[in-house]
Amino acid sequence: MTERINRKWCLVSRPVGMVQESNFEPREEPVPALTDGQILVRTLYVSFDPAMRGWLDDRPSYLPPVGLGDVMRAGGVGEVVESRNPDFAVGDVVQGLFGWQEWAVVESGGMRAPSKVPAGVPLTLPLSVLGTTGLTAYFGLLDLGEPKEGETVVVSGAAGATGSVAGQIAKLKGCRVIGIAGGPEKCRWLTESAGFDAAIDYKRDDVGAKLSELCPKGIDIYFDNVGGEILDACLARIADRARVVLCGGISSYNEKEQPPGPRNLLNLIIHRGRMEGFIVIDYLPRFGEAVGELGRWVSEGKIVYQEDVQEGIENAPATFLRLFQGKNVGKQLLKIAEPQGGA
Ligand SMILES: NC(=O)c1ccc[n+]([C@@H]2O[C@H](COP(=O)([O-])OP(=O)(O)OC[C@H]3O[C@@H](n4cnc5c(N)ncnc54)[C@H](OP(=O)(O)O)[C@@H]3O)[C@@H](O)[C@H]2O)c1
Repeated sequence: MTERINRKWCLVSRPVGMVQESNFEPREEPVPALTDGQILVRTLYVSFDPAMRGWLDDRPSYLPPVGLGDVMRAGGVGEVVESRNPDFAVGDVVQGLFGWQEWAVVESGGMRAPSKVPAGVPLTLPLSVLGTTGLTAYFGLLDLGEPKEGETVVVSGAAGATGSVAGQIAKLKGCRVIGIAGGPEKCRWLTESAGFDAAIDYKRDDVGAKLSELCPKGIDIYFDNVGGEILDACLARIADRARVVLCGGISSYNEKEQPPGPRNLLNLIIHRGRMEGFIVIDYLPRFGEAVGELGRWVSEGKIVYQEDVQEGIENAPATFLRLFQGKNVGKQLLKIAEPQGGA
């Protein structure tokens, strides 16, 4: 058998400010022989998530930083090509933290442990609407947001993988939903395809003025994906007993210095509001419930989603940057290989 060569991208320097393609370097190495308990996975799709920017910084977080010289960490879906683990057979489709590489040698247990993707599930779904972003929308909106019929919900990063699902779940719960996104095309998709009641283009509109116009009784739930000025504008307009769900703050992920905190924080006191952050992995024991619900809503056409699939391992760093340039239209993925049924 010809030797398999693994093409991969390693982190070679830590970004200061905006992440650059040059923070990563392509490397090639032979795929090692398996030892007992290991499987060899051919990566098919890689997931790109804004949180990966945080993994590049050398500071404590919910996961350790990616080490200099290490393959860039990322979620992925792949197929088992060789197995020395009784729990996995050649041809199984699996998901896990396989990284920016064509081949991954992984084993049960630990951070990179693979899990099987049930037969019949389209290959990209465990990374998109049934994956981390869909689950984040589900738990953030329902558990922290606690939506009630007739309430006004505002979602930022609304056309993205997480925001679009959060807004649609709020619609399913009978709320009025306003999305904030960058550009007319994303805003049009929100109102024409995803069923949002209104959309605000933060790159063109006066966000504060639009929020005042669209939320005359105030904001009951703000699902925040971006932080910064938009968080501040929403805090200024919360209703009594509002819930502010801190999901992400992408506007500052690439800042050299963290910006000062929101000016309108004290509005939470006046309006008896609550602001709470969360990390989706806290809900691991309930992932099955959420995947079941999301899967049902998707199959019934009640939740629509978009996937932005770039191609080729050589494009991994450029694909990552798309998230911070607002170029991704829905869940950002990279296709690495065609499935070959374990061959
Ligand atoms: N707490 C958790 O456990 C958890 C889990 C998953 C994701 N998240 C967070 O959820 C958020 C969305 O993640 P995602 O994976 O669904 O990504 P995404 O929304 O599909 O893509 C990122 C989007 O962020 C917007 N953006 C980029 N730079 C921005 C800026 N400076 N200001 C405002 N918007 C900006 C862009 O949309 P526009 O074109 O609209 O600007 C871009 O398309 C992120 O903050 C992420 O960290 C949190």
